[in-house]
Amino acid sequence: MIKIAFFDTKPYDKQAFEKALENHENSGLEFHYYETKLNADTVELAKGFDGVCVFVNDTVDDVVIERLHALGVKLIALRCAGFNNVDRKKAAGKLRIVRVPAYSPYAVAEHTIALLLTSIRRIHRAYIRTKDFNFSLSGLTGFDLHGKTVGVIGTGRIGRVFVDICRGFGMNVLAYDKYPAADFEREGVKYVTLDELFAGSDVISLHCPLTEESYHIIDEKSIEKCKRGVVLLNTSRGALVDAEALLAGIKARKVGAACLDVYEEEGDFFFEDFSGHIVDDDVLARLISMPNVLVTSHQAFLTDEALSNIAETTVQNVLDVFERNQCENELTL
Ligand code: NAI
Repeated sequence: MIKIAFFDTKPYDKQAFEKALENHENSGLEFHYYETKLNADTVELAKGFDGVCVFVNDTVDDVVIERLHALGVKLIALRCAGFNNVDRKKAAGKLRIVRVPAYSPYAVAEHTIALLLTSIRRIHRAYIRTKDFNFSLSGLTGFDLHGKTVGVIGTGRIGRVFVDICRGFGMNVLAYDKYPAADFEREGVKYVTLDELFAGSDVISLHCPLTEESYHIIDEKSIEKCKRGVVLLNTSRGALVDAEALLAGIKARKVGAACLDVYEEEGDFFFEDFSGHIVDDDVLARLISMPNVLVTSHQAFLTDEALSNIAETTVQNVLDVFERNQCENELTL
């Protein structure tokens, strides 16, 4: 029997994972679903389990890792691609870590485009108006994407799909990546420096991981370098953007619009219902109050295809570690 404690469970997670388990009926693998997130206060719930299964807003820091190790837990199975919430150094030699490197780049890239089109064609405002039988067009003027320049930071799996879609719209593409891809360049994508990207882009989209280097890649200084009216898209990780600097840029009318699927302090709010509560994050509240800011709640991954791929890969990862002692999706330092 392999027992995994599943944290931050939502109904759609349980449904997808139970379905994936049906394909591995005699594996002896069992998930126990906790609604709570994993953190220092809840880590004791992992007692008696072989592994924990966590998502983007679970806290897997040094304290949690130390305790998991003491409890005899052997595996951290991330059911996501990013792993910035795990202290990998602390886990080395104590707990193995697996992740789902790719489950649907289309889900995230298409959501990014959905946010972009909604924002620049004011669909969010039109939807509310027509629901109230207000058919006025005043204030809904948008702009064509055709002929505009999009700057893409991070040209991995998601960034490339996003670029393909943007090219379909007839946009020019400027790309920046820490490790530019020669094959992508051969396809006609132009890699530039970050400063050139900031100066030349009408729309900027972030598709790189959160690392020490990329932390606040969008801050006061970089916003200063952008075109007036730039549209910023972040469907990667909240801390890529300094939210206070973004708010200042919007107030100064320098940033034309922002679409955020992630937010630096999202762990306190995202995935939960706070309607009827007083939200005490003034930056988030002010951003949401802006007519040119769209916020979704880390939703970009949420498609049937992605959920099913996440569950299938995670189940396989766990079995690979415990049955074969070898997993291609294991993170090493
Ligand atoms: P990937 O690993 O395929 O691509 C990431 C790219 O970023 C690589 O080409 C890499 O060279 C580049 N990169 C690394 N450090 C960089 C830096 N400092 N500056 C510029 N580029 C850098 O990853 P993938 O699958 O495309 O995912 C990208 C990000 O999207 C993930 O790290 C994750 O944070 C986010 N994500 C968000 C989801 C959501 O639901 N909102 C779902 C899945 C991923």
